[in-house]
Amino acid sequence: MDDLLALKPDVVRCPYPAYAAQRAEQPVVYSERLSGWLVTRHDDVLAVLRDTERFSNRLASGPSSVSGIAQRIVDDETLPERTRNAAARRIELSKARVLLFADPPLHKRQRALVNAGFTPRRVAELDTVVHDLAHRLIDAFPAGSPVDVVPAFSMPIPMTMIATLLGVPPERMDTFKQWSDAFTRGVGALEHDTDAVIDIFDKVDAFYDYFTEELAVRRESPVDDLLSDLLAARMGGEEPLSEAEILQMLVQFLVAGNETTTNLLTSAVWRLATDPRVQTRLRDNPAELPKFIEEVLRLEPPVQGIWRVTTTDVDLGGTAIPEGQLLYLVTGSTNRDPEVFGHPDDLDLDTDRARHLSFGRGEHACLGMSLARLEAKLALDVLLARCADVALAQPDGEVPFHRSFVLHGITSLPITFTSRSA
Ligand code: HEM
Repeated sequence: MDDLLALKPDVVRCPYPAYAAQRAEQPVVYSERLSGWLVTRHDDVLAVLRDTERFSNRLASGPSSVSGIAQRIVDDETLPERTRNAAARRIELSKARVLLFADPPLHKRQRALVNAGFTPRRVAELDTVVHDLAHRLIDAFPAGSPVDVVPAFSMPIPMTMIATLLGVPPERMDTFKQWSDAFTRGVGALEHDTDAVIDIFDKVDAFYDYFTEELAVRRESPVDDLLSDLLAARMGGEEPLSEAEILQMLVQFLVAGNETTTNLLTSAVWRLATDPRVQTRLRDNPAELPKFIEEVLRLEPPVQGIWRVTTTDVDLGGTAIPEGQLLYLVTGSTNRDPEVFGHPDDLDLDTDRARHLSFGRGEHACLGMSLARLEAKLALDVLLARCADVALAQPDGEVPFHRSFVLHGITSLPITFTSRSA
């Protein structure tokens, strides 16, 4: 596992043998490199996810927290005032602990209120948007030469879906993408690049300005959309969502929903391109696509692990862990736990494999899972109908992966294909 945490490229690409060894030898173990505990068995991870009292989401400095860096920007008098103000605004808004970083009862209230807007009807309304977009993107694939499915297909679909859900008009889509990138570009890595930091905080600020204005408009005249629903959501005796809570939720939709779904789509195309048997079977039986998508989620989870902190001394699978410790629950491992799945490393369309933990489980289970599943099903359905003989345009061993042990996915996937009429 040390090789994975040190981001050794071949282990990042395929961490599963390392997980299997860890699961068999020390399923709950402290890692110096992580400054936290690795938990790799399905049953242990499930027990943690179901127990929000002893295992908290209030991560002191969560992996996606940028507050520390933002504070340094506020304190750096050599930076322009607008950048320092933007960083201060980000810190202020981050104080509203929301969804991923909240515990009950705050989390329970937020989840109930957000569910009032994030309804199955609202997700289902996106059906034709995904379908039409997938066709338009494939129309633009270059004829007769390889196409990189990441920028040409897997990236624009989740981005456009979230923008549509948030009511961003098509002409603002490019700007929205820039804002979204600013949230996900990892300010940490750019800490010493002043121009990049200024650029990121300009865009983050523009995002907050835009949605603060949009919320103000809807507060005056509500319409039938998610933002209006979030403003109007009420639950017996509880405080409605504050503006800071709503803005931070929108940020979480961007951060949690874009790259994850992009990685799912790309991994699915990679599996199709490297397994012609499965490709033919699904083209002949598109009704099996949901099972295929669950298997891609199980085998190549876009999020390989989930973070928690112990609120008290606990015993986990026979190992004592003190209060206040960071836990990394390795869902990439639990999804291949042989105690739960027979022949766990094989893609199997004939058995029910739905017990994977790729969307988490319990109170924090992914809010966007039905949206991600809908996008994947419709997009792949169109791709299989329009593109025959999908194959890699480069050797499989050269396919590049993100340098991360948490976010798992391919950064570029050129494919060849034969056009078919839809
Ligand atoms: C394949 C795509 C996706 C994957 C693999 C994924 C994975 C996850 C996982 C593992 C969690 C649980 C985190 C925890 O327990 O701490 C989660 C939570 C969450 N996801 Fe997703 N996600 C995906 C797509 C989306 C989309 C499309 C959206 C939004 C539009 C979204 C929004 C969220 C939010 C807001 C939470 C926090 C829920 C809470 O804490 O109550 N996700 N996701």
